[in-house]
Amino acid sequence: MWKAKEPVRSPQASFSRRSLLKGAGASLLALGARPALAATPDAGFTTLRARKASAQLLPEAEPATEVWAYEGMVPGPILRVAQGKSVKALLRNELDQDTSIHWHGIRIDNAMDGVVGLTQNGVKPGEDFAYEFTAPDAGTYWYHPHNRSWEQVARGLYGVLIVEESDPPQVERDIALVVDDWRLNEAGAIDEASMGSLHDRAHAGRLGNVLTLNGADIWEQPVRSGERIRLRLISTANARIMRLRLEEHNPWLIALDGQPVTPSPLAGGEIRLAPGQRADLMIDMELDPGSSAAISEVSAQGRLVAGHFLYHESEVVRSQPLDAPIALPAGKLPERTDTQGALEVPLLMEGGAMGGLTGAVYKGELLGIQELARNHGMAWAFNGIAGRTPEPLFEVEKGRPVVLRMVNETSWPHGIHIHGHHAQVFAPGEATPWRDTHLLDPQEEVAVAFVADNPGKWMIHCHMLEHQAAGMGTWFHVKG
Ligand code: C2O
Ligand code: CU
Repeated sequence: MWKAKEPVRSPQASFSRRSLLKGAGASLLALGARPALAATPDAGFTTLRARKASAQLLPEAEPATEVWAYEGMVPGPILRVAQGKSVKALLRNELDQDTSIHWHGIRIDNAMDGVVGLTQNGVKPGEDFAYEFTAPDAGTYWYHPHNRSWEQVARGLYGVLIVEESDPPQVERDIALVVDDWRLNEAGAIDEASMGSLHDRAHAGRLGNVLTLNGADIWEQPVRSGERIRLRLISTANARIMRLRLEEHNPWLIALDGQPVTPSPLAGGEIRLAPGQRADLMIDMELDPGSSAAISEVSAQGRLVAGHFLYHESEVVRSQPLDAPIALPAGKLPERTDTQGALEVPLLMEGGAMGGLTGAVYKGELLGIQELARNHGMAWAFNGIAGRTPEPLFEVEKGRPVVLRMVNETSWPHGIHIHGHHAQVFAPGEATPWRDTHLLDPQEEVAVAFVADNPGKWMIHCHMLEHQAAGMGTWFHVKG
């Protein structure tokens, strides 16, 4: 009988025991192939119904899990759109609580950003909301609710948004691969008893005990010898920092958080992804026909096999790796941010267990840590303030550069997500990657720079969703 682990204190709780390889004769089912819905202007709106559904997250012999999902699918439908074209999606709320859709990482029109209480009202049960926006940057993005996201994302509401380059590098397959961890109880249901627990909020967040790739207990991707694959990794976990290992292959990193990077080999075939982060990889399938190679997750104790590339018995596409460039076409963001005249903003991260925070301002009142935690479920603060305030953390004129100096004074890692903009690590003279979510380890300091060129109200928050709910969320205003 499969048994769920108790929530544990370690920052990276381990997964439950689980079957490794399914039989050697595992069928060549394209579990990774999900219907791609074209979100083109002439096709009108793609409907995304947020509703209850059943998903086989555990091995087939185990029970299915009731989830909340877009169109009943975990992950939701893949939306594909050409760069510069508009995405049109109609959210229909069939849940019994308010929801919305946030288009994570898109430099979007503010009115379409989906943040309940900041850019829109909650979409009520039974109601619709039409999202329509231009996707300016090609790359790998995702969508999820921005209302009670700690619950709604944990229950399965998320999907992938792919913005296609007009001239992408040549590959045989382009695969989106969503990694998530779920906390299930002994009956294989979403563990509701611990949903939103103060313990999780003040520690690492809600760590799961079951890992899925594209919603499958073991994800199996048929390939052929010699193929080149573009693998778009997306972490939709609430809180776990994933460490995925592409075993027996030599993947190259070509994009982070949607934005192209100078290709570089992935040391050890391993990539670390904070919640919300993405990485695009190029992988040549260099093993012999009939081989299989594991994709494993190594953040917890031990190595958890989460999927396989299963090579066709005999077919060989080419015997030498494809001799074509793997770099993506240049993105629209400059190599470096010109930080002359930048607005300097400190962002001090405080609180959490073992953090030594004694109190913070909550709804305009200075409260002691006990009261914050017990009466309001708050555990974290930015610059001494817990939770989103009516006033922004800062205001900036459109077009002005910002240097955000983040200091993690806590004992926990945090993945800080900036809405509506990508930012690069501020290292004068260096062209660092553009990211929408920056991971800071305990006690780490990272300054990021960006030009505040997108008018509106934008959140900055920890994407460990329990941390966000427990105070690590603020916003800034770009006047334009
Ligand atoms: Cu992916 Cu504010 O969220
Ligand atoms: Cu955090």
